[in-house]
Amino acid sequence: MTANGPWWRDAVIYQVYPRSFADANGDGIGDLPGVISRLPYLAELGVDAIWLNPFYPSPQADAGYDVADYRDVEPLFGTLADADALIASAHAAGIKVIVDVVPNHTSSAHAWFRAALAGDEAARARYIFRPGAGDAPPNGWQSMFGGPAWTRVDDGSWYLHLFDTAQPDLDWTNPEVVAEFEDVLRFWLDRGVDGFRIDVAHGLRKDPALAELPETLDRNLPLHVAQPGHPFWDRDEVHEIWRGWRKVLDAYPGDRAMVAEAWVLDFARLGRYLRPDELHTAFNFAFLVAPWDARAFRTAIDDTLDGLALVGAPATWVLSNHDVVRHATRYGGGAQGQARARAAALLMLALPGGAYLYQGEELGLEEVLDIPDHLRQDPNFIRTNGAERGRDGCRVPIPWSGTTPPFGFSPTASAGTPWLPQPASWATRTAEAEHGDPDSMLSLYRAALDLRKERLGEGELEWLSAPGDPVLCFRRTPGNLICAINLGTSPAPLHPRVAGAEPLLASGPLTGDGHLPADTAVWFAS
Ligand code: NOJ
Ligand code: CA
Repeated sequence: MTANGPWWRDAVIYQVYPRSFADANGDGIGDLPGVISRLPYLAELGVDAIWLNPFYPSPQADAGYDVADYRDVEPLFGTLADADALIASAHAAGIKVIVDVVPNHTSSAHAWFRAALAGDEAARARYIFRPGAGDAPPNGWQSMFGGPAWTRVDDGSWYLHLFDTAQPDLDWTNPEVVAEFEDVLRFWLDRGVDGFRIDVAHGLRKDPALAELPETLDRNLPLHVAQPGHPFWDRDEVHEIWRGWRKVLDAYPGDRAMVAEAWVLDFARLGRYLRPDELHTAFNFAFLVAPWDARAFRTAIDDTLDGLALVGAPATWVLSNHDVVRHATRYGGGAQGQARARAAALLMLALPGGAYLYQGEELGLEEVLDIPDHLRQDPNFIRTNGAERGRDGCRVPIPWSGTTPPFGFSPTASAGTPWLPQPASWATRTAEAEHGDPDSMLSLYRAALDLRKERLGEGELEWLSAPGDPVLCFRRTPGNLICAINLGTSPAPLHPRVAGAEPLLASGPLTGDGHLPADTAVWFAS
C-alpha cells in the first residue's frame, strides 16, 4: 500500500516456473496456456505480479536458462501469440508480468555460438574463447555445476562456461553483445512486459587477465556467492551494463522494473546494483539463507533495511525459489517444517518492501527428496554424477486437484505423465483441497495477502523485542501492525503491548495466556 510510490517498491511477486505450473496440452510439461488457465487462482490469491522463468526456445540443458533465441517462445511452452495472450490476460486480471532475461550466457544452440564454432570471427568475439596451456584449460575456474568451466573445441581453443557446457559465457566487453541485449529488452517491453528478472546479474564481467580465484576466498561459501577480490563475481565493471539497461527502461511509459539475481550477501555491495541509475530491486538471498534462528533473522532484516536505505532502494524478501531446497523442508520438514513455514510467511509478509513467493509454497509443498536418479534432469546432478542432488526436488509439478497424480497438472484424459513424479501424499496439498480448509497454508497466505494489501507496504519497522530475544517482535508503520514470531523452542511471553490483544491473524494455535508458542507467528493491530 505504498501511497505514491511505483508498484515494484512493495509488490508481492509470484514466481511461476512454467515447466511445472500447469500443462494445458497434456504432454506432461507445463506451458503458457496452462499459466493463462490458472490466472484466476493467482488473482484470488492476491498477488500483484508474476515472474516467469525462461520460456524461450532452448534445448533445455538447464531448464531454459540455455536460451537459443531471446525473441521467441520454446514450442514446448507455446508460441509468441501465447506469450502475448498471457501478458494481456494477466493485465486484464490486474497482474503485472516480469520475464526472465539470461545475459551471462547463451545456449550453445544459439545462432551466434553456432557461427562462432563454424569459424565466424565476429561471432567468436562475442564469447570468451582462449588458448589453453598445453592440453590444460586457460585457468582453473570451475563450473557452478561441477567440473572445469572451460570446454575445448575442434581448433584446440577453449570457451568459458561458468555453468553447463551448453551455456557459453558472452563477452560483455563486446559492444555487439551490449547492443543486442538492449534490443532484446525493447522486444519484450514493446510486447508489454512490466519488468525483467536478470539472471546472474553479478557475473557478466570477468577479470580480463583470467586470474585464479585468490587464496583469500572463504571456501565454505557456495561457489556462486560473491566475495571480495573475485575474478568474475561482483566486479565493478558490471555496473556499466545496468546503467545502460536503466536508460532503456526509463524510455518506456509506465513503471517498468528490474530485479537482480545477484548472489551478493554484503548489502553495501548489493546496494551498488540499486543506485538510482541502475536496477530497481534485488533478491534478498541473505534473508533466504538465514537459518531458523532469531539472531540470524534479525541480523538479516537489519542489514537489509540499513544497507538498502543508503541507496533509497526498497527491500525485497524471499524464502524459496527454483534453485534452492523448499523452505518447509529446510526448516525441518514434517509438522515442524509446516509450522515454521507458516510462521515465516507471516514474518516475510509483514516486512517493509516487496516479497517473492515461489509457486507451491502457498500450498506448503516440501522438497521432493526421492526422485529416481534416472528421472533427474538438473545439470548440477548430471555433472557431479549425483554427488550434488541438484534442484529437481523443488521443481516438481504443482498439484491442483483430485486425489491421484497428475493432480490436475495435466488434463486427466491426456497420455502425458508429469515430467517429474508427484508424491502420492500431495493429495492433501492440492489447491482444491486447501481452498475449502480454513486451516490450510493456502488460506493463511490468502488472509495474509488480504491484510497486507490493506495495511502494509513500504514504511518503517520499529523493534519492540530486544536483540537476542527468541521472539522477534516489531511494529510497522504506516499500517499500525505488530508482528511477533517465536523462533525459540518453548512458549515465550508476548510483548506487553499485545499480550492481551485479539490477533488479526496467527500462523498456528494460540494459548491465550499471553504467551506465543514456539514456531508460531502472529499479527496484531496496534
Ligand atoms: C540462475 C538460475 O536461477 C538458475 O536456475 C540457472 O541454472 C543459473 N542462473 C544459470 O543460468
Ligand atoms: Ca504442455
